[in-house]
Parts: sequence; C-alpha cells; structure tokens
Amino acid sequence: MTSETELIPAPARAARNTDGHMFLDRATALDARPGTEGVARWLRATVGAATGLPFPEAGEGANRVVLSIEPDLPPEGYRLVNDDGPYLIQGGDAAGVFWGAQTFRQLLGPDAFRRAPVSSAAEWALPRITVEDAPRFRWRGLMLDVARHFTPKEGVLRYLDLMAAHKLNVFHFHLTDDQGWRIAIERHPRLTEVGSWRARTKFGHRASPLWEEKPHGGHYSRDDIREIVAYAAERHITVVPEIDVPGHSQAAIAAYPELGNTDVIDTASLTVWDTWGISPNVLAPTDNTLRFYEGVFEEVLELFPSEFIHVGGDECPKEQWRASPAAKARIAELGLADEDELQAWFIGHFAKWLSARGRRLIGWDEILEGGIAEGAAVSSWRGYGGGIAAARAGHDVVMCPEQYVYLDHRQADGADEPVPIGYVRTLEDVYRFEPVPPGLDASQAERIMGTQANVWTEVMEDLARVDYQAFPRLAAFAEVAWSALPAPGERDFADFERRMTAHYGRLDALGVAYRPPSGPLPWQRRPGVQGRPIDGPPPNR
Ligand code: ACM
Repeated sequence: MTSETELIPAPARAARNTDGHMFLDRATALDARPGTEGVARWLRATVGAATGLPFPEAGEGANRVVLSIEPDLPPEGYRLVNDDGPYLIQGGDAAGVFWGAQTFRQLLGPDAFRRAPVSSAAEWALPRITVEDAPRFRWRGLMLDVARHFTPKEGVLRYLDLMAAHKLNVFHFHLTDDQGWRIAIERHPRLTEVGSWRARTKFGHRASPLWEEKPHGGHYSRDDIREIVAYAAERHITVVPEIDVPGHSQAAIAAYPELGNTDVIDTASLTVWDTWGISPNVLAPTDNTLRFYEGVFEEVLELFPSEFIHVGGDECPKEQWRASPAAKARIAELGLADEDELQAWFIGHFAKWLSARGRRLIGWDEILEGGIAEGAAVSSWRGYGGGIAAARAGHDVVMCPEQYVYLDHRQADGADEPVPIGYVRTLEDVYRFEPVPPGLDASQAERIMGTQANVWTEVMEDLARVDYQAFPRLAAFAEVAWSALPAPGERDFADFERRMTAHYGRLDALGVAYRPPSGPLPWQRRPGVQGRPIDGPPPNR
C-alpha cells in the first residue's frame, strides 16, 4: 500500500476498494449516531482544528462521515469503510469508534496531527479502503512517573493525547515516591505542603557527583485530577492511580514522621529524598499507618473510577522492620513467619479494603512474596517470572518486564546517548517483545490482561527528555500491545521501520521530541561533542 496507509499500530486488515480518494471539504458533515457523541466532539476538536473544516452535523448523501456502534463488531474493534457512499467509522462500542477515528486521522496524513492548519491549499484526501481491526490486549498501558520529576498537568494531558493516537488505553499514574508526593489529599494536607517539594536533586545517575541545587516539586489539585480523569475518559483511557506502599514512601514520612519506624530512626529529621535508588525509610506496619492510608485511598477512590488501584509494593527494604521492636511485636501478634509475610499482610489489608469497596488491588510483582491476596493483579516488572507465577496461580497480570519495556533505559550503545542509563533497549528490542511468555496453558495465558511500557523519570528532567526516551519506542510498543498480526515471533521489523517513516511525520506534527531514527545522530556529526557514558543499572536500582 502507499504511504497514506502506513498505519501504526498495524491494523488486522486493510484492503483497497477502488482507486482514488474521498476529499473532505467545508460541506463534509459529521453524522454521529447514538453513543458516538464523544467521538464526534473529539474529531471536531482535533481533526477540525487541524484542517479548519467545520464538520456540520448530520447532512445527506455521500459527503458525510458517519459514526456508529455496530453489534457485529467486538469490544474496542472497529471498521472503516470508504467506498462510494459516506465514510463509515463503525465500532463495537464507543471505544471502538474512537480507535477507528484514530486510524481515520492517520489516513488523512501528518498535518491532521497539528493544532491549526498550516496550508490553506491542503487537500484532505482519504484513500478508498476498508480497514477492519481490533486490539489483541485489553490492557495497553503506559506508566508515567511524575514523582521523580513532576510533570505539570498540561504535560499529562498531552501524554494522554499521545496515548490515544497510539490506541493505548491504560494510564498508570505513578503519583507518589520517595522523592515526591503529587496528589492533594484533603485530610492530610502536609503530603503535598511538605511532601511535594525537595530542596535539591541528584543530577543524572545516582553515582553521579552532580547536584541540581534548586528546589523541585509540584502537585495536582483534586480538580486537576478530576480533569485528567475526565480528559482520559473522553479518550477511552482508564487512569490507574498508584500510591506506592510500604516502600518508596519517604516523601510521606517527611510530611508525617509518625508514619515511619520511629523506634529505629529519628523520622522527624527526614526530608523528601533528593537522590535516586531505594530509600531504606519505609512505612511502619502500625494501625496508625493503616488508618492514615485508608484515608488516602478513600480520597483516591472518590477521584478515580478505575476498577484497579495500584498500591506499589515494590522494593521495600526490610532492614528497619528487622530492627524495629514494634514491627517484631506485630509479626508475633499476627503469627507471621518474617518481614516478607509482614509486607504481604500490609498489602493484603489493602486488597481486602479495596475489594470491600468494589475495587481490585494491583501491585508490582514483589506482592507475590510472602503470599498474595485473592483477586489481586500483578504488574510483572522484574522479568516474566512474577507474571508467570501469578498467572499460574490464577491472578491477572500486566506484563511490563524491565528487560523490554522500561523506557528509561537507553536506546543505543553510543557513549553519548543523552540519557545514558540502564541496559540498551533498542526500537527493535521493544518491537520484538512478546507479552505472553511460553509455558502457559490457554487458561493461564488468558490471565495476561496485556502489557505496559514504564517511563521512570529519575534522569528525565523535563518533557523533552521524556519524549526522547518514550519515542519512537512507544510506537513499537503500541503495535505489540494492539496488533495480533503477524503472529508473535514473525513480526517484520523492516516493515515496521518502513511504516515508521510515515509515522515520524505524524510525531513531528504532534511536536514529539523523539530520538532521531538512525545514526549518526545529529550531534555525532560534529567532532568533539562527547557525552558522559554512565554504565550500570538505572538509578532506581
Ligand atoms: C519498579 O521498577 N520498581 C517497579
């Protein structure tokens, strides 16, 4: 097919009906059938703005785009028909119509991704093709860490737009960590008053000698969160909030010292953490901590309608618990074997608490250690192993192994990658990632809800860096998450790269500061320009 059909992610089927095109003009109407009003709003706001076309309502005859929900299509599936009648965008549900509208926008060409027309002479031509498509996975996620470096609301909304353009549908919002607490909690105001700012920041890898001697911080108000959730919902994206417990909690302890292990260290002297790695300062396993976080989660549930609520659970060092008489007493009182079981008890408490409120807990794969609560789901990040064990035990899984889809890891081996951390994960590595590992039977494989790319931001000081790390790899990831064809193991990277040629034009129009596609990179063409390679694990290890 021609460049106009170089779609990403690749659709299940695209076939030409006749030669030629349908041309949009000022009279082209938008006929939104029941249930598709949100998609019509989105089309007018985006394609309308890019083309300058008004898309009047309803209309007659062939000069129309008709949006409809059709019962013969699967959930999130869609069909585009451009024959000699009106242009049909049909979906199995409103989400399917929306994903169809994303493909429609790609077919219009790169300038359909701008926010205003750049040429009054532009022709808006749609090839006479039929596309039939449906996602492989129901969880097609992106995690953004807004704790290590704060992303102002506007940047979050922009990432939701970028997700929508790639048919990604779960935004995992990493809202709290040792280095910052980003969501306003009414009953615990110091979480943001104190916990959302740090005095200075380690610059680069945690082994780097450099500091940025400036305060860093920010947070989202409750209305900001409502706006983000509503904006995502209009784009058929679910926002899954993460409140990380019982580790990665130093910012919370800095705000409320009684949350920490006060019988081991002077928690009143703790500040929001200014460097990277895994802080030893973890929550105390007390009733006070449980009640405090129940209050946090009550407000989180008011703001986020998501079925799944992420409680972190990763990288909780147990040294303070081992040293704490109070933690030891708790272990004895509960009849637990050790500190791993204490963590499992802590997470299990919130699994039950959430389930009593009609929600489900999801956590990083460490929640498997010491026993995992019924109904809990797992984000498998340390490889496939946690996900395999969880699926075999009947738990739902999101596959996000750091070996493939941690987009903080560098994209090439060059000494002068601007973000030179972690292991090399090339565009092709991400493209070849297979979320369903071998060795699962059919019912266990069903437990793999999908996959997620994770963007940790220790060394991404701003959105230009985030763009550079996320793209183009997120486009490859989107295809892994969406496209069932070709079969895993048979993916054709050369064909993907060919389609990426068109996709870079879309990313340019969207203003994405992606890593340039192939070497030598622009700065490598200038002799004498050298970066500072930093080997070893990424800074959160
Ligand atoms: C993680 O990377 N600590 C989930």
